[in-house]
Amino acid sequence: MTASLPPLRNHLLHPSGGLVYHLRALRHRHGLWAGFHHTVAGWLNSWQPRRRQLVLVGPNAGHALPAGFLARFDEVVALEPDPLARGWLARRPDAGRLRFVALDCLAGPEGLALLAAAFPEAAILFSNVLGQVPAPGGSWSDLLRRQLEMLPWASYHDVASTERAPQCTTPITLDGGDDLDATLARFWHGGRLTVNDHETFQLGGQGPFSYVPWQIIPGRWQLVEWTCRDGQPRPEAQA
Ligand SMILES: C[S@@+](CC[C@H](N)C(=O)[O-])C[C@H]1O[C@@H](n2cnc3c(N)ncnc32)[C@H](O)[C@@H]1O
Repeated sequence: MTASLPPLRNHLLHPSGGLVYHLRALRHRHGLWAGFHHTVAGWLNSWQPRRRQLVLVGPNAGHALPAGFLARFDEVVALEPDPLARGWLARRPDAGRLRFVALDCLAGPEGLALLAAAFPEAAILFSNVLGQVPAPGGSWSDLLRRQLEMLPWASYHDVASTERAPQCTTPITLDGGDDLDATLARFWHGGRLTVNDHETFQLGGQGPFSYVPWQIIPGRWQLVEWTCRDGQPRPEAQA
């Protein structure tokens, strides 16, 4: 493959991260965010890809990554445009095998294919980023299905956000038979619900999918989805 990934440009004021996100994390990580982080820790503990290299896309400072998670892998490569987040992540006790690469796999329509070509032995974790960055042509589901089918990957991501508090905040796992309205109705019961659709519902198209509401700040909620894929056996392994 002759094309290469474009450079990842530093930013401190990106709408999906940046200084505002750091301030929120400092303020809420032991309060509003603690239950959500506990749920993410469960999802990540249950994810056991058979790869020794991990590529982390959009980890920020690793606020949502449980202690010791990075040490599960022989090598961790992080793609994170926020320099403050990179510095913070690198200081974690489990970051001994962490390095950063300044490549943007989310910018172009071939980005995920180029990522797979650059890291063919890796498992990929999209760390709450695909609901924040628009898909560069088509949808993230199509791009993942077409370009990342050979690699194990997992993602947690916002599927919808709203100002209304849910009645139920217990995490659930669904087989993928429900549409978005039916899924929202499991948490927000009755009445009118106005949501911002992040266009990542049932990411990758194949269940099961897990869900939990996350109160990111007072008066604002996200419904976060988790899903993972094993990846197809590599062609030479099939022969
Ligand atoms: C909503 S934050 C999620 C942070 C963290 N993973 C968490 O779960 O708390 C999204 C992160 O994606 C990063 N990001 C934005 N564009 C990106 C890109 N093109 N490639 C990699 N990361 C990106 C942002 O800098 C930010 O740290």
